[in-house]
Amino acid sequence: MASGKTVPGISFGPFFLDSAGRRLLRDGHRVPASPIEVKLLETLLRNRDRVLTGDELRLMVWAEDPATGIAPAQDANVLYVAIRKLRRSLGDYGKWVVNIPKVGYAISEEADVAATDEESPRAPDNGHPFVGRQAELERLKQLLTHTRLITLTGPPGIGKSRLAARLADEVASSFPDGTYAVNLVPIENDALVAKAVLSALALAERADRTELEVISEHLKEKRALLVIDNCEHLIEGCSHLVDHLLRAAPKISLITSSREPCAQAGTASNRAAIVPRITRNIRTSPHFSGRLAPTPRAAA
Ligand SMILES: Nc1ncnc2c1ncn2[C@@H]1O[C@H](COP(=O)(O)OP(=O)(O)OP(=O)(O)O)[C@@H](O)[C@H]1O
Ligand SMILES: [Mg+2]
Repeated sequence: MASGKTVPGISFGPFFLDSAGRRLLRDGHRVPASPIEVKLLETLLRNRDRVLTGDELRLMVWAEDPATGIAPAQDANVLYVAIRKLRRSLGDYGKWVVNIPKVGYAISEEADVAATDEESPRAPDNGHPFVGRQAELERLKQLLTHTRLITLTGPPGIGKSRLAARLADEVASSFPDGTYAVNLVPIENDALVAKAVLSALALAERADRTELEVISEHLKEKRALLVIDNCEHLIEGCSHLVDHLLRAAPKISLITSSREPCAQAGTASNRAAIVPRITRNIRTSPHFSGRLAPTPRAAA
C-alpha cells in the first residue's frame, strides 16, 4: 500500500502496522489496539514464515514487558485473551490470525505481508551480507570438531551474534538433528532460560517434568547444535543449563555468546573465544551497518 513506501512498517491485507509510531491503520485510518495487541501482531507478522507455538508467543511478547508482570508460559489464558482481542480489532474474526490446532498461531497466507523496514528481532543480520571474519570462522570450526561448548565473548556490538549465526550455518551439515537458535535478549529472569530453550526446540511443557528434564530427554541421543545468544544478563541460568545439557546430552554441541565471560563447569570440553574487531576495513563496505564497536575491551 502507498503509505508503506514512505513510512517504515509492515503492510498486510488492508492494514499497515507503523513500526515507529506503534500504530495500526486500516485503509489509512487508525484502528484502536492496545500496545500488547500491537506487539503480538508484530511478532506474528515478523515470523510469518512459520507457526508460533503458544510458549514462543508468550516468551516473545510478554517476557520483556515488566509492566504486565506476567510470568510467560505460565498463563495460557493471557495469550488466549490477547489473541481474541487482536482478532476483534482486526475484524473478520479469525481471518488474519489463524489458529493451527495443537500447534499455535500464524498470520494467514491471504494477508500478503510486505515489510518496508529492515528491523527483525530474530535475525541479527539486518539484511546486510556477512563481511570478513574468515580467519575466526576457520579457527572456530576447527575448535568445534573437538570442543562441545564455545563461548563468544566481547563488548556490545562487536559481532558475537552475527559470528555465532554464521558459524552455526557453516557447520550445520555436521549436525544431522538440526541447529537451534535461542535469543535471550527478551528474557529477563534466569528461571526462564530453560523455557526459552524449550520454546526454541518447539517442545511442549509437561506438568510432571521440569523444562530442563524435557529438553534433556529430547536431546539425549541427538546430534544437534544449540546457539544460545546474548547470555550476559543471565549468566547463572545459562551456566546451569549449559552445564546440565553437556552432561545429559553427550552428542550435542553449544555455541553461546555473552558480553561477559561465563564461568561454566566441565572446562575440559569448553572454550571461550574472545571476538576481536573485524580485521578487514569493513567500515568502507557498503553493507556495513555501522554498529561494530571500534575497540574491544581488554579481556578480564
Ligand atoms: N561480520 C559481519 N558482517 C556484517 N555485519 C556485521 C558483522 N558482524 C556484525 N555485524 C553487524 O553489526 C551489528 C552488531 O553485531 P552483533 O549483533 O552480532 O553484535 P553483538 O556482539 O552480538 O552485540 P550485543 O553484545 O549487543 O549482542 C549488527 O547489525 C550486525 O549485523
Ligand atoms: Mg548479540
